[in-house]
Amino acid sequence: MPQIQLMQATPEDIPAMLRLLDSYAQKQLVLPRTAADLQQNIQNFIVAHDGARLAGVAALRPYGDGFFEVRSLAVAHGYKNVGVGTRLVNALLEKARSIQPPAVKVFALTKRPHLFLRIGFRLALRERFPAKIWTDCLMCPKYNNCDETAVEYRL
Ligand SMILES: CC(C)(COP(=O)(O)OP(=O)(O)OC[C@H]1O[C@@H](n2cnc3c(N)ncnc32)[C@H](O)[C@@H]1OP(=O)(O)O)[C@@H](O)C(=O)NCCC(=O)NCCS
Repeated sequence: MPQIQLMQATPEDIPAMLRLLDSYAQKQLVLPRTAADLQQNIQNFIVAHDGARLAGVAALRPYGDGFFEVRSLAVAHGYKNVGVGTRLVNALLEKARSIQPPAVKVFALTKRPHLFLRIGFRLALRERFPAKIWTDCLMCPKYNNCDETAVEYRL
């Protein structure tokens, strides 16, 4: 596997992050993000770098009351299936563990539940995350026909 390094995202990463997320948003695999959105929330993002190339990205979004969501998880073609996605999720769990006041729970809505279950997440009901439903799901065309699985990790 190439020498992939994980680090906090910086504004310099934004153009490559946008390109990567956009390529998957077009396939409805992640929610679309804008440059302004990334700029405003850059502290939530971590990136995986192969030298100057962006191999992956992921974000930990706070919801209050110690709840956090893994979102915008994406690994570039050419870097898939060698553990980069797993490393990104584990790094977000580390980030959640270091947060004050302490994080309580990390959740995700995903089409790839196995990836999360292997790490130690458990299946959950999406109704347990009403803030997510009120912000993202209500605007989703698949609201009544959701093809994502909710998973959660208690810290
Ligand atoms: C989903 C996604 C982020 C996974 O990233 P990834 O880097 O390929 O993930 P990993 O390599 O950690 O794991 C993928 C598979 O590779 C295998 N794998 C993981 N680590 C491995 C290793 N060290 N060696 C060999 N195989 C490995 C596992 O079988 C795993 O399958 P599983 O997830 O069904 O259990 C990536 O495919 C992607 O960007 N998809 C498009 C965007 C998307 O769907 N995002 C939403 C995700 S919630």
